[in-house]
Amino acid sequence: ADRKLVISLDGPAASGKGTISKLLAAKLKLTYFQSGLVYRNLALSCINNQIVPTDIEAVIRLSQTPRYEETDELFEENVGIVASQIATIGAVRSNLSGYLVKLIESTPRIIMEGRDIGTVIAPSADLKIFIAADINVRAARRYKELSEKGSQYVFDDILSQLKIRDQRDAEREVAPLRPPKDALEIDTTILSPVEVVNKIMKYAFLL
Ligand code: CDP
Ligand code: CDP
Repeated sequence: ADRKLVISLDGPAASGKGTISKLLAAKLKLTYFQSGLVYRNLALSCINNQIVPTDIEAVIRLSQTPRYEETDELFEENVGIVASQIATIGAVRSNLSGYLVKLIESTPRIIMEGRDIGTVIAPSADLKIFIAADINVRAARRYKELSEKGSQYVFDDILSQLKIRDQRDAEREVAPLRPPKDALEIDTTILSPVEVVNKIMKYAFLL
């Protein structure tokens, strides 16, 4: 049997974390987890229950039952914005982090992507990856992705929403978005997903 393996992949909004992780998961026979979904599910519950992010007690209560489900509406940028607001609350992060840590412990071979996977959730991961890309390129990627699902989006709205989210994620006090010290850092601005994966695979000897 293959031995236990943990890979973390962090980066800002729409940097390609999901795309790269899925390709690596297929190559290395890993289970793929998108930690942002747990934050987005909580954000959507808040929206549906008319709980505003400043109602900290109510948000903390909801965060006691984390969910990992995938629905199309989770990927709307208004859900992303609320996710980044509730993600600044320390007690919310510890509830969701506990859930994510258990997922890692109970999964033999795993790649988990997010913001704080290499720094907080899995500091002893076998390989830590941090990807980044120019903000305009990321906004264009997200715009294309969302538009292909059918609805009408405005590029400048997406751009400013990603900027707000990036800034909030980088500046929060608890588990801010940072490259882990020992991470393999890749700028994907002018690289295709396959080129990024090929770069990462050069480090597969570490695994
Ligand atoms: O998971 P995250 O929000 O970081 O990004 P994603 O949803 O995986 O990627 C956003 C879009 O950028 C996808 O449609 C990818 O095909 C595209 N893309 C990429 O992920 N990586 C590149 N190097 C180039 C494009
Ligand atoms: O796919 P994209 O990069 O746009 O976002 P996501 O990974 O689904 O994350 C949505 C939001 O959840 C982020 O902007 C963060 O505020 C928060 N998040 C976090 O704080 N920590 C994580 N490990 C994952 C997501």
